[in-house]
Amino acid sequence: MKDLSIQPKIEYQPSLVGRLARIIIPLLQNILPSKYYRLSYDFLYITYNKVLRGLYFLEMLASYIYGDREKKLQKSLTYKLLPYTMGGKKALENAFEMTCFAENRQLEGALVECGVAQGGTSAMMALASRVLGETPRQKWLFDSYEGLPEPTAEDYEGGKTGHFIRPLPKGSCLGTIEQVSELMFDTLEFPKEEVHLIKGWFQDTTPVYREKVGKIAVLRLDGDWYESTKVPLENFFDQVVEGGLIIIDDYATCFGSRKAVDEFRTNRNITNPLNPDGRGGAWFEK
Ligand SMILES: C[S@@+](CC[C@H](N)C(=O)[O-])C[C@H]1O[C@@H](n2cnc3c(N)ncnc32)[C@H](O)[C@@H]1O
Repeated sequence: MKDLSIQPKIEYQPSLVGRLARIIIPLLQNILPSKYYRLSYDFLYITYNKVLRGLYFLEMLASYIYGDREKKLQKSLTYKLLPYTMGGKKALENAFEMTCFAENRQLEGALVECGVAQGGTSAMMALASRVLGETPRQKWLFDSYEGLPEPTAEDYEGGKTGHFIRPLPKGSCLGTIEQVSELMFDTLEFPKEEVHLIKGWFQDTTPVYREKVGKIAVLRLDGDWYESTKVPLENFFDQVVEGGLIIIDDYATCFGSRKAVDEFRTNRNITNPLNPDGRGGAWFEK
């Protein structure tokens, strides 16, 4: 068995703004009354996202001048979907690349995301496939649609669950089924028979839907916690086709997610390299 520990380490890579936020946000929390802290946090978060999207617009324009067809498509879809994701541009760009990979190789199978929130990265896979693929794929979007569950003991290292600017209590990262339904069916006009929004905890839904989902071309895991990564891996990995892609959005951000993936790969003797997505997520090929 290949020693997984000699593979390049995939580390959390905060941006300069992310690093500054780690200093400023706790400072605000200490000096402001809680109501004003929440208002300032929300204001900073919204402004930050608007500025990032504005800057991304320039990247998109540059791709129209210098990029090939796929690059232009990647940048314009990312620009369009930034308001619907918590993962930022790198998560969207990686979801695009993985779907391109599946389409270029003409892999069989569905696009599956476990951890959808407001639907940004799911929509990216669905749109990339719609434009680049020859035949429509089934899209399976699993989420509680009630936000995160509580972390378990397996998620903690040194009293922390990961590299977050602020803790993620139960109910965080909420995207409702109505929001995702509006995005997929009203805004993006996917037919109802192609996109399945499965509401419930992965522990309950993934074993029940295994058979219906069938073969999988791309499996995207974005549930943050140990159990929320381990359960879909155990239920869906065997259905990923040879050459299919497994994306773990939180590999370096959430300690439990990394642990679940490392344990699974060791137990299954998986030696295909884990590749970085450029910001702390990872992916590997089956
Ligand atoms: C970080 S968010 C996903 C972000 C999303 N992919 C995006 O593009 O913004 C994590 C999501 O995982 C879901 N989740 C985590 N653990 C879960 C579980 N055990 N069962 C169902 N949903 C879960 C949460 O409800 C939340 O929507």
